[in-house]
Amino acid sequence: MDKQAFSEAWGKKATGTFTQPVIDALPTQTDKRLYLKIVELGPANLPETERQEYNTILSTMDNIYSTAKVHPQPNVSWSLEPELTDIMANSRSYKKLLFAWEGWHNESGVPLKSYYPRFVELSNKGSRADGFADTGAVWRSWYESKNFENDLRELYKTVEPLYLHLHAFVRRQLYNQYGPKYINLKGPIPAHLLGNMWSQTWNNIYSMMIPFPDKPNLDVTDEMDKQGYNATHMFRVAEEFFTSLDLAPMPAEFWSGSMLEKPNDREVVCHASAWDFYNRRDFRIKQCTTVTMEQLSTVHHEMGHVQYYLQYKDQPVGFRRGANPGFHEAIGDVLSLSVSTPKHLHTIGLLDTVTNDYETDINYLLKMALEKIAFLPFGYLIDQWRWDVFSGRTPTERYNSDWWYLRTKYQGICPPTRRTEEHFDAGAKYHVPGNTPYIRYFVSFILQFQFHEKLCEAANHTGPLHTCDIYRSKEAGAILKKVLQAGSSEPWQDVLMDALGTNKMDSTSLIKYFDPILKWLEEQNVNETLGWPDFDWTPPIPEGYPEDIGKRSVHLWNSKSLNLNPPGAAKLSLYSGKN
Ligand SMILES: *[C@@H]1O[C@H](CO)[C@@H](O)[C@H](O)[C@H]1NC(C)=O
Ligand SMILES: [Zn+2]
Repeated sequence: MDKQAFSEAWGKKATGTFTQPVIDALPTQTDKRLYLKIVELGPANLPETERQEYNTILSTMDNIYSTAKVHPQPNVSWSLEPELTDIMANSRSYKKLLFAWEGWHNESGVPLKSYYPRFVELSNKGSRADGFADTGAVWRSWYESKNFENDLRELYKTVEPLYLHLHAFVRRQLYNQYGPKYINLKGPIPAHLLGNMWSQTWNNIYSMMIPFPDKPNLDVTDEMDKQGYNATHMFRVAEEFFTSLDLAPMPAEFWSGSMLEKPNDREVVCHASAWDFYNRRDFRIKQCTTVTMEQLSTVHHEMGHVQYYLQYKDQPVGFRRGANPGFHEAIGDVLSLSVSTPKHLHTIGLLDTVTNDYETDINYLLKMALEKIAFLPFGYLIDQWRWDVFSGRTPTERYNSDWWYLRTKYQGICPPTRRTEEHFDAGAKYHVPGNTPYIRYFVSFILQFQFHEKLCEAANHTGPLHTCDIYRSKEAGAILKKVLQAGSSEPWQDVLMDALGTNKMDSTSLIKYFDPILKWLEEQNVNETLGWPDFDWTPPIPEGYPEDIGKRSVHLWNSKSLNLNPPGAAKLSLYSGKN
């Protein structure tokens, strides 16, 4: 039985059985929560033909995304993983990066565009049958908080100064590398220069801007390579960290059923994912693992999901979820915060010397900021775009304009080539065609530092927060275990209160962690413009592009350039007194 037929059968049965008086009489709050989770049907509300159409659109989009390729030459093709990811991370050629960026955005995004509006329509229809205004409202409801959007806004404000300082520093380093033609010191950064296809994490350009280059290299990719690391070994290393906290090892089914490397005999969806088969035995990961330090973090991230599955497997199916989706995303990352410390890398033999000095600290914190702080605006904006699409505030004819408005407003990046409404650049990010909600990652990036601080306290860590390694702390593991075992059986605020002694998401721990690097960045940036007052600036197209890199079927985009006014601007101007 597919998942929708299953939800429909059980949902309908529950709706029929549980009339209002029966619900009111349910003995505990827990029973009521469980009931509410069962009766939500979503797309399973749709009549048979529409449900099939919905499923077909989803699988078509998934297929387009996972098979899209860039062809620099007629007989050469670059997949997202590994070729394009590798180019984005390691090339320092403006033109080659541009070719990879533009190629991917055109090959994946453009073909998806015609499917997305109908998908939105059907998805909303299913959500409305459950009593919600639209699908965005359903997604937000998982956070069981009346002020969710407002809380996020406030939270973002508290971390924005850190982002602005990181952005200004990085922009200056890129200016030194690529020159004034391509980098405007008062403008947004061209989106293809940050080491990642979506500019979502910037740790891959750390090597261009190491504050104290004479100190040991904290990116241990080369060392992993030298030591003959492979995918299995990386997963074993992660598993050993979990068991060192007295958490569960991966079961035999995990090792026999997972796909840990990209197969060469078939097309697969390479985007890393973890799977719960809901039979209490079978849990797997699918990942096209390559041997890099970044992927070692991803391994911990995915294994964090599986650890959650393992710990809550004895809950009723309706409660086998994260306390909220952000919790699920945070678990593996919490461990990674320890794993990436110079101290831990030394413990597991990936770093020769470990020195406790200011310069190493600053190197380390800059690297972590490029991963964690750079991500915050991205994590915050993706679902602002989607919530607006689901609500209709962003109509089809503004998909790309509103996407780039948000990307510029929050991330301070700009498209490096002309983009129009013929493009669908949101579609070039997996979670959009893959229909995975995104605000969970923003929540996770805040929450994981709250957890880190608490677990470090339990592990009797002394010294600055960023030097803490919880390895082998059963006390830290015990706190985590309790959170994981609860699944979604209680409101997340209660789970958090139990574990951390607070019921609020809060950026205090994150800010404490990054405090030394903020001070350092402030000193570096005394003469910089913070932000990007030249909001609409875009770089010129380089001479000899794209011919210098490869052949490309030249397509002339006819429609008008993007309109970077805020989403819903026309309507909002009626209320212009309100900011
Ligand atoms: C991967 O590495 C482990 C540990 O070094 C080794 O035992 C194993 O044979 C390697 N596997 C492959 C497929 O190379
Ligand atoms: Zn995840």
